[in-house]
Amino acid sequence: MSSSAVNGADIPRHVAIVMDGNGRWAKKRFMPRFFGHKQGVDALVRTVQACADRGIEYLTVFAFSSENWKRPTEEVSGLMGLVLVAVSKYLTKLAKEGVRIRIVGDRDAVSDKVREAWNQAESATAHNTRITLSVAFNYGGRWDVVQACRQAMRAGVAPEALDETTLSRFMAMSYAPDPDLFIRTGGEVRVSNFLLWQVAYSEFVFTDCLWPDFGEAELDSALRSFAARDRRFGAVPTGQPVAENSI
Ligand code: FPP
Repeated sequence: MSSSAVNGADIPRHVAIVMDGNGRWAKKRFMPRFFGHKQGVDALVRTVQACADRGIEYLTVFAFSSENWKRPTEEVSGLMGLVLVAVSKYLTKLAKEGVRIRIVGDRDAVSDKVREAWNQAESATAHNTRITLSVAFNYGGRWDVVQACRQAMRAGVAPEALDETTLSRFMAMSYAPDPDLFIRTGGEVRVSNFLLWQVAYSEFVFTDCLWPDFGEAELDSALRSFAARDRRFGAVPTGQPVAENSI
């Protein structure tokens, strides 16, 4: 099943990726930034396939942040247009391969065309079970916490009744377990408002690899690093005295 060097038991259920470095990848080739984003879509499709082959159940990627509207107008419209191109080029292939697509983020601000493309991607793949690809689009971790609180209030949850489990039910990714492994490409070492609530106990891997170059080798390297981690979720390491600092 897996072509990775990692034992099946050590494979994360959920991998989240900040796909950074498209612009620099294009610049190195004296090409416009959009060319990097276009290659980024191909890297994404490759990565979905590689994750599915390794038995990863959920892959969540940051495609457009709530803050990305601050980019030059032509880059923003290029990214929006890329959604339409990506859906028409890859939807059939991904659907056939058992990929379920979910979009997380605020759909109100995107154009009707983009919203329709996302709706089409979700409905055409809703029955699939091999891997769930969540595309965070017009998404921000803080937006998610706020929208979850609003929904909880609308649903009439009393302040005293609001606990972590209850709020989690209103988060945009309530259908998925929290990410086990968080990867960021492109050399920056920050979270950038991605899945703030959900990464409480994720393991982080930062790589200098620019996103369009990401593939099986980089994924396997991150998976090996993940497999070597000692995940404690705040508990003490096995066999250690309880008084020892365990964070
Ligand atoms: C960050 O690289 C990347 C983005 C803001 C866009 C990510 C989008 C894709 C990979 C394409 C996927 C798109 C769809 C439609 C699913 P950057 O532009 O910040 O690169 P830089 O840090 O080198 O400038």
